[in-house]
Formats: sequence, C-alpha cells, structure tokens
Amino acid sequence: MKKIIHLIAAARPNFMKIAPLYHALNKEDWCTVHIIHTGQHYDANMSDSIFADLMLPQPHFHLGIGSGSHAYQTGTVMLEYEKIVLEKERPDFLVVVGDVNPTAACSMVATKLHIPVAHLEAGLRSGDRRMPEEINRLVTDAICDTLWTPSPDADENLMNEGHPEQRIVRVGNIMMDSFELLRDKIEAEKSPEKYGLEVGNYGVVTLHRPSNVDEFETLKKLVDQLIQASTKIQLIFAVHPRTRNSLQEHGLWDRISSTDQLILVEPVSYTPFMSLVISAKLIITDSGGIQEETTYLNIPCLTLRENTERPITITEGTNKLVTIESLQENIDLVLADKWRSGTKPDLWDGRTAGRVTQEIRKWLID
Ligand code: UD1
Repeated sequence: MKKIIHLIAAARPNFMKIAPLYHALNKEDWCTVHIIHTGQHYDANMSDSIFADLMLPQPHFHLGIGSGSHAYQTGTVMLEYEKIVLEKERPDFLVVVGDVNPTAACSMVATKLHIPVAHLEAGLRSGDRRMPEEINRLVTDAICDTLWTPSPDADENLMNEGHPEQRIVRVGNIMMDSFELLRDKIEAEKSPEKYGLEVGNYGVVTLHRPSNVDEFETLKKLVDQLIQASTKIQLIFAVHPRTRNSLQEHGLWDRISSTDQLILVEPVSYTPFMSLVISAKLIITDSGGIQEETTYLNIPCLTLRENTERPITITEGTNKLVTIESLQENIDLVLADKWRSGTKPDLWDGRTAGRVTQEIRKWLID
C-alpha cells in the first residue's frame, strides 16, 4: 500500500512552497501525494493561474472557505479538513507550509488525530505578536512532529523555545526550488517589455500587510511616498485585493492610479511576477517571500516593516528594513549604486524538495 501524504495549500505564498515538493513526491513509487486547497485565496490571479504556472494539478480536495475573520478562517478550515480526514481520506503524513491561518488550523486537526505533521519553513520569528502570522508560526511549531527550517536563525529560535534538537532539521529554502523549476520560463517571459518598462531601470512594489494598508493615515503616507519615488524611477505596483479594497474605501485609488510613472496592475502570476523581479533595479515590499527571492537574486529589497522573521536576508542578503520616512533616502542609495551586495544563504540551492522527500521517506518507510 502506498503511503498517503497531504500537502496543505491555502494562500498565494503557499503555492510556491508546495509545488516543488509535490513534483518531487509525485515521482516516488512509495507514496501518493494529494493537495488540499483550503480556498483562502480564490481569485483566478491569486490561485488558479499560479497553480497552472507551477504545473500543479487541480487540488484533490477543495475546502472553499473563502475570506473572513481570523477565527472564521481558522475554525472553518479545522471543521472542513477534519471532515476530509475522518470521512474521505486519512493521510499517513501531513505537510503544512508557511504561516497562514490554515497552516495552524490543519496542523491542529491532524495532530489531534495522531497523524504525523511536518512544518516546512519552521522556526521563523519576527518577535512581533501583533502579526497574525507570528501566532500561526508559534502554534504550528509547538505541535508539529518535525520542524523543517530554512536557515540557522530558525534552528536557534526553536532551540531557544525548548524544542528538542532531534525535532529540528535544516532543509533549506524551498521557494528557491520553485524559481529554479521555472527559471527558463521566467527568463523567457519578458514581462518588463510587456508593461513598457526599461530593463534594469524600474522598481516593483507589493504591499498587503494590515499594518501598512488597513489604516487611512499610513496608507495615505505610503501613497504619497510612492508618488514621490516614481519621479525618480518608474514603478510597477501589483496591487493585492486587500490593498485595492483599502485604497478604494479610503478614497485614495484615483490619486495613486493617475500617476504616470506609477503603473498599477492586478496581482501577477508567479512566472510573470518573477520576470519583473529579475530585471528590476529595486523592490519595495512588505512580503516575506520576496525578501528571500531578492536575496537569492541579489536585487536590492526595501522592506516596509518594523521587523522581519527572515533576518538572514538582512545579514547575508540584500534586504533592509525601511520606514515610510526613510524610504526616499534608501531609494536614493540604490539609484546611486550604493546598495550592499549579498550572498546566497547555505542550502538555498534549489534542492530542498529532494531533502524533504528523503525526510518523509525516513518517517514512513525506512
Ligand atoms: C494572507 C496571509 C498573509 C499572506 C497573504 C499573502 C493570514 C493570516 N494572512 O493575507 O500571511 O502574506 O495572505 O497574500 O493567513 N481577497 C480577495 N481575493 C482573494 C483573496 C483575498 O479579494 O483571492 C481579499 C478579501 O477581501 C479578503 C482580503 O483580500 O478579505 C484579505 O485576504 P486574506 O486571505 O484574509 O488575507 P491576506 O491579506 O491575503
């Protein structure tokens, strides 16, 4: 009998983490791998087109939970995933990734049903408990059977919290596997030309954190800063639905969308987005994954946050935390070619999925 493995996919950043693992496990003859999509992200450009880009099949189970409060998302995913496990298919092993609400929800369901659970991207900590993701990370790591980390700082965080060393396995950063899997397509995509951008001479913007986009005062200041920045370098801003809703509700949409040098676009799928990133002069973001991708690609990343759960992107990579007030001076540094060059962290090598596959094999077969 083949062992059944479930991979949980919920929101956009999860898809790039499960894809390489799905493809690696799918080649093994000892297991059957099934994707459970919780439906937290559901717009075509937040989900289906990214699945297609990453050559993922239709999810084997779709929970269809949609948007809602944190309690709604967490609770509904627990109820719906428990039904799958009890009534349709009990897996021999569960992998949860990242730090979104279903990461914590599904690990709680499975662990109480005595199914071994692994957390891929374990141990990251921002130290900021006002971020919902930090709560999800703490909860998930506390109950998972095995903790797969991307970097030494994550190992250290887990050991400081008292996790036994044998539960922690450094496997590297699986996001880089997705990039390497699609590198040829990304390089052939030529997104900058499609948007009329000059290669090497534009910035990419993504912002969606509640702390940046939910409140009027902060969002207005950010809009003003982006407009000012666009007088120095052309910007392309892929607007997340949360951000679009907030810009519209706060009456800021017309102002930001009428700036010539600032191109607003819908969320862009993985391949075209990475095609924009590889040829950019700089990135302005509050995303977690983009801090890592820019470190891997040695592209200056200005992160509009007070903290990061990915400090290695600052100590070894090209990332820097900036504030609304310091954004312009940091853009000026990049434009004057005074940004620090980075190095690739150890095990960010495009081979993490292979290491994870061996780890699962050890749990289930060896
Ligand atoms: C979620 C994750 C965050 C991650 C982000 C990536 C949590 C706690 N947060 O935040 O860690 O960085 O995904 O995008 O899990 N919406 C749509 N269409 C969609 C999805 C969302 O219109 O396909 C809108 C809805 O109005 C929704 C809002 O965006 O209420 C926010 O979506 P939600 O999934 O709750 O949180 P994100 O901000 O996307």
